[in-house]
This record gives sequence, structure tokens and C-alpha cells, in this order.
Amino acid sequence: MTFLRAEPPTFEHHLLPFGIGESAPRLSWTVTTDIPGWTQQAYEIELSDGTCTGRVESPESVLLPWPGGELGSRERRAVRVRVHGRDGSAGDWSPWSWAETGLLDATDWQAGAAAPPLELLGPPDGPAFLLRRDFTLRGPVGRARLYVTAHGLHETEINGRVVGDEVLAPGWTSYGHRLRYRTHDVTHLLREGANTVGATLADGWYRGRIGFRGGKSDVYGERTALIAQLEITYADGTTDIVVTDGTWRCAPGPVTAASLYEGEKYDARLLPAGWSRPGFDDATWLPADALPHDPALLVAPTGPQVRRVETLDPVETITGPDGETILDFGQNISGRLRIRVQGPAGHTVTLRHAEVLENGALGVRPLRTALALDTYTLRGDGTAEVWEPRFTVHGFRYAQIDGWPGELDLAAVQAVVCHTDMRRTGDFTCSDPLLTRLHDNVVWSMRGNFVDIPTDCPQRDERLGWTGDIQVFGPAAAFLYDCTGMLSSWLQDLAAEQRQYGTVPLYVPWVDLGPFTNDEPTAVWGDAAVVLPWTLYRRTGDLDVLRRQYPSMTAWVDQIAELVGESFLWDEGFQLGDWLDPTAPPDRPFDAQTDPGLVATAYLAYSARLLAETAALLGHAEDERRYQELAGRVRAAFDAAYVSLEGKVAGDSQTGYALALRFGLIDGAERRAHAGERLVELVRANGHRIGTGFVGTPLICDALAEAGACDDAYRLLLQTECPSWLYAVTMGATTVWERWDSMLPDGAINPGEMTSFNHYALGAVADWMHRTLAGLAPAAPGYRRMLVRPRPGGGLTHARATHVTPYGRAEVSWERSSGRLTLHVLVPPSTIATVHLPGEPDEPIEAGPGRHVFHCAFRNPSDDPVSGPGGIRRD
Ligand code: BGC
Repeated sequence: MTFLRAEPPTFEHHLLPFGIGESAPRLSWTVTTDIPGWTQQAYEIELSDGTCTGRVESPESVLLPWPGGELGSRERRAVRVRVHGRDGSAGDWSPWSWAETGLLDATDWQAGAAAPPLELLGPPDGPAFLLRRDFTLRGPVGRARLYVTAHGLHETEINGRVVGDEVLAPGWTSYGHRLRYRTHDVTHLLREGANTVGATLADGWYRGRIGFRGGKSDVYGERTALIAQLEITYADGTTDIVVTDGTWRCAPGPVTAASLYEGEKYDARLLPAGWSRPGFDDATWLPADALPHDPALLVAPTGPQVRRVETLDPVETITGPDGETILDFGQNISGRLRIRVQGPAGHTVTLRHAEVLENGALGVRPLRTALALDTYTLRGDGTAEVWEPRFTVHGFRYAQIDGWPGELDLAAVQAVVCHTDMRRTGDFTCSDPLLTRLHDNVVWSMRGNFVDIPTDCPQRDERLGWTGDIQVFGPAAAFLYDCTGMLSSWLQDLAAEQRQYGTVPLYVPWVDLGPFTNDEPTAVWGDAAVVLPWTLYRRTGDLDVLRRQYPSMTAWVDQIAELVGESFLWDEGFQLGDWLDPTAPPDRPFDAQTDPGLVATAYLAYSARLLAETAALLGHAEDERRYQELAGRVRAAFDAAYVSLEGKVAGDSQTGYALALRFGLIDGAERRAHAGERLVELVRANGHRIGTGFVGTPLICDALAEAGACDDAYRLLLQTECPSWLYAVTMGATTVWERWDSMLPDGAINPGEMTSFNHYALGAVADWMHRTLAGLAPAAPGYRRMLVRPRPGGGLTHARATHVTPYGRAEVSWERSSGRLTLHVLVPPSTIATVHLPGEPDEPIEAGPGRHVFHCAFRNPSDDPVSGPGGIRRD
């Protein structure tokens, strides 16, 4: 008995297609079947309004154009799909999946911005304010929607219940260009008669301090405000609307101070009981100011929200050198604590956070000026009080608890992990526990830094959307989680700010902090404009990401092309270069071995080439020709300026060779071979300790493997001495560090300023582990074709990677013993895999959808000779 089922269709990249901003959302589905080799021949899509495509002969199932009429604001539509196989098989209709649009047009917004009145306002990062309004409903409610956002951070309540489960709403976008709102179904929170809507409003990114060097406050404005529109449709079809305006009332509440960096102070005695319920007397509250705002800036989300994703219990209590109580949660995270405490009224508990311990005490120096300190002052009414700060987030593994009333019971404190709640799509394990832990650390660093925007780190006075970091980490990220929705929102901000400032800022959203400026283009970082959309396209098959970003991609490359002129070398101006290469002194992170001009020129050639390919895909033939020519010229200029006749790369650094080889910048097979040999020599001469920074690290293993030195790639990867990937793991790291030696071998914290314990950039190597070590790589956009080419080595006896591709789940795993290797491959429906068996002559095997098992003779260079029969066997 076989089964064949199309799963409920999905809309764009939405996890929950509610309040979406697309009037014609593209549809995708996957097919679940046990029919070997199943490939789609045709599909039918039906919409709940009766639209039906009829049978469409097509193998496509990813991001298909909306088959119906355009949706208007607030419209709901269900979709289902039925598929037919090439083998004549026909599935049943999938279950329906529903989508609902938000407010698609600026004219849909009637809400003003309700702001705490001036007389209440103090300096930034001060108290959070309560805003409220009572209203009466005329009859039973059929449906109700709350469209809500804020200048600042908000948590909204209706009749005493918090609306939704979003954390740090509305997240951080480039507020001057785009402000995200969310749509909530609040039907179940309303009732006939008296109702109340209220919100707590804090400064957050809008007004609170952001950034290094003391940072900046009031970045987007001096006044926070709530923008809310509650639309009620009664059972009889009539409607009412409640919006933020001057009728709302405002007062300070229990949050006496809230700051993303400093933490939150909460005095439970100041909570006005029942403030967001009807019947509360707000006579002493002040009227809110109704401020204008631009509804044209309001956009629906394209990705999931930040949520409380997981809670962790402490694994150990540690007593610090001064007798302080420190809890170890066993994992470095972004999040905050939740406490359950009982004690006298007015008593204050203090919570401090840090990623590491130094000399047994909290190591807070890496936080720089971020205090990361929360306080809770008890109500003290004889019952247990549960509290978690709401308008801050910290990067921490350890928490010091001061002033706990009585004995601290471990069950009273939990760490709440908060980040963008993306769907997990990728996994990796192997026979080496340290390497598997490294991979786990990469996952945790992604989780710690995908907090609405892709940040550099979650703990210190930064947490900025550094473009270079996500540029290099993009491929690993796109494997591990479905992050396209989130990143394509951020890319729209990147494009908007690029237009505003004339170049791609170093971090997006941009905040003017110094010493950096917003008008000086910087290679690798600015190249995120081209490379990240390209990465997302390759991994998801979403051509619209390229289409949408195209003006930004071309503007970046055109700008640099103009800058370099006829020299085609980008060897002047400010560069960050191979940031944090291990030889850079602690206080000079940019002082790398590799010439920054070489790095910048290599990246220009690379971006120009990707752009030429993009132009071709989008049908811009003239652009394609122009960028191809540019790529060729830059490549030739690079070769002439930086590569000797014999293939020696200027500066003789690992990153220099890795760039030249990986980006294809050396002419002539012999010169390339020589460059490859030299790279291998350098890696060996360095004792297989790492010699690369942010730029070279994502490339080095590929460059070695392509130079025929996969074994050296493994030795680099498995190195445990400092500097190396596994050094941090042996030091007990649970996330990827910013620098190779964030913690020195003696346990001291590196004295440099760039010393975070949670930066994903150097974790970019996970992509090599997926593609090459395990052997699961995309060979066509969206894994329509998969390349299965594992390169077992390093003494590993098994490895396994899984990825939920747009067509369904793919798996590659291998295990080896006594000179034999077994390879298991799961190919998703409607796709195909090109399988190369390790150690076999290069004769790829085509494998269609379904499960496959291959056996072959295999030995590592370091292994014993092959035993048993040779040749390939396919089960
Ligand atoms: C950030 C990095 C970033 C770098 C560039 C640092 O402060 O944490 O990850 O890319 O600055 O200057």
C-alpha cells in the first residue's frame, strides 16, 4: 500500500501566514510519498473562492505564482493542492491552508500614534509607560483583529490578557524607512459590553541607547508611541474600530527603567491592579498625546517573530570568590531569566548576566558598557511572584543572583531563550564528539544572534546588524534554519539605507556612532548586498529575492567599479580586511597578515561575477555582459597585481591563497596548482593551527580540499591547540567565539575589545561540514538538484547531515569500517542527486527521489590498506 500526499501549501516564506503583506502570495508545497522515484508531472491548485487552476502540466512546486485574483486588505483565502506523478499516480487533495492579509494600503490605517505626554518623559532608557483605553462593544463579536506596532517596544493587553507571544515587538527595522506591524486575532479576548485595551511601552531600539563607544540614544526620535488599530466585526456584520489617539490615558507603571543593554528594573508594588481591564479608574492618568506618523512606512512581517523559544534550568550553583551566588545554565544564550520568588514587600532581587566566569566570578568586561542588570522589587503579599523582564535581552550563560530572600531553590530560576522563531531545517552529527559539539555551538550562535536582525553578538554594547558577519555566515545559516523571511526583511533595510547613504552601511540598521562613517564603502561587509541575496537564492530557489535586491546589488558593484576606475584594483580607502586573523594584536583586530587591497579586489571580482549571473537569471542581457566584463577585468587585474608568474600570491598568507583559489582569480592550471601547493605548505608550516580571520576562515577548508589536500582541511578542522575551531570547544565553549582566543589557555579573558563569546562568523565552517564532510550540497537553486559528494577523512567513522529542502527532507550519511564505506542518501520527491562516491574514479551516479544505499571500498590516506572487495555496489 503506497501513499502519496501533498502537504498543505505554504505562502511565501511565512511560518504563520496571518497578517501577511502580499496580495498575491507565492505558493509552495512538498509531497510525502513512499513511491520510489516519485516526480511531479502536474498539479492542481484550488482556492476557497472557487478559483481552480485545473490540471497544470508542471514539475514546479516551489514559490509558484498566486493563481487567483489579488487579495485585498483583511482578506482570508484557503488553498489546497493535488499532485500527479510522472508514473501516473494521483494524490488526494491536501488539507486546506489559510492565509489572511494584513493592512495592505497606507489608507487602511486610521490609528494615530499615542505617546506618553511630555510631562512624564525623562531621559532615554527610563520607565516604561502604561497606555490604556476603555471601549464598549455593542453586541456579540464575529471577528476582531488588532494591527499593532510602536515607536519603541510594546506589549499589548486586552482585558488583562497579553496579546500574542511576540517578544521585543515590533523588532528592529530601519524605522525611518520601514516599521513592522503585526496582526493578531483577538476575537477570543473581547466580550460584549465593557472592554479595555492597554499597552506597556518602552524605549527599545527606537529611543534607548544603542551602540559602542557610549552609544547613542533617541536615534529615531525622542518620543515613543503606540500605534494600534483594533477592528471589530460584530456577528451581525457591522463594524467598529478602536484606534490609538488622544483619548488614551497614560501613567508610569511598574517598569521603572528598561534598556536593551542596561536591563530592566521592576517594582511590583507599582503595578496598578487591573489597569488593562474594564472598571479601572484612570482619572489620575494623563491623556496621551496624539502624534502624527507616516502609515506608508508600516509593513507586514516577512518572517517569524522573536519569541520565548525554550527554557533552561540551571545545571549548577557556584559560589563566587566573594560568596556570591552564581547560576550556570550550561549554555550561552540570548534571553533573560524568569524567577519565582516570595519575600517581604519592597525587597529587591538583583540579576546580573555574563557569558563566562573569570577567576570564579562573573566575567563582565566583554560586555563593555552594557550593564545587563535586572532588578525585581517584591510586591510582598505573601504569595509567590513570577517575573521575567520584557523589554531587555541579554547574552549569557551565568547569572549572579543577589538579594534573594531566604534560601535560593534552583527550581526558582530559569533562563528563557529568546530569538526569532525560525523553523529548524538543518542538522549535522559525526563520530567526533568535539566536532559535533562545534556544530552545536554554531547552531547556538545562530540562535543567539538571530534576534529579529542578524547581529554580531548578543551581549555587549553592540548587537548590530554587521553586514560582513552575515555575509560570511549566510550559507551555514540558510542550511540550519529557514531564515529567508527574516533575512529578506533585513535586506530591504540594507537597500533602503544604501539608497539613503550612497553606500552599504557597515551595519544595518545604521546608527551613527563613529569612528565609522556611513559613506565609505567597505569590502566583504558591503558585499553582503550581493552575496547574501545570492546565497538565499541558491538555497531556496527564490528568484524574487534577487529581483527585489537587484537595484541594491547593482548599486553596490557600480559604486565600487567607479571607485576603482581603470585600475580595477580596490587598493585604497578604509577596509576591515581579514578581520581578527589570529596574528592581529588584541587591540588591532584589522591588522591582519593579508593585504586589505587584495581582499577587497578579490571580493569585487566575486560580487561582479555573481551579479553577472543574477543579471542573466533576471533576463538583463546587457547588464550580464557588462558585469561579466567587469568581473573579467578585475580578475585579470588581481592576477597581474597579486599573483606571481609561478602562482605565488602576494603576502603569502593563507587567506590570500584561499581567496584567489576559491574565487577563481588565478589564470592557468599550473599556476593554480602551484598556489594550491603553497597554501598547503603554509597550513602545514603553521602546524595546522588556524591562520585566517573573518574572510579566509569560511574559505580555507574548501580551498584545501580543492587543492587535493582534504586531509589537511581535516587536520585544521580537528586541531585542538589554539588557535583553532576546536580549541574553544576544549575550553568548554557552548557557542562560537568572536576571536580564536576569546578565552586564553590559562582561562583569562582576552584583553582585546573584540572579545565576545557568541559571534557566528567563524562558525561559517559549518557550511563545509554540511557540504563536504557529510556531502549534502545544493547543485541547483533550492536543491532541485543535490550534490552528494562526501569527502570522509580525519579518522571520522561516520557523519550525517539532514536538510529540509524546499522539496522536502534530504539526508546524507556515511559510515565506514574495515576499508568499506556505506553511503545512505534520501533524495526528496521531484529532485535528483548527483552522487560521487569517495575514493572512486570520478563517475557520478544519478539518484532519483527516494532512499538509496551505496557501498564502496574506501580508505583514508592514514588508514590501513583496503580489505574486502573493491568496486561500487548499489542496493
Ligand atoms: C563586530 C564585528 C564586526 C566588526 C567590524 C565588531 O565590533 O562585533 O563582528 O564585523 O566590528 O568592524
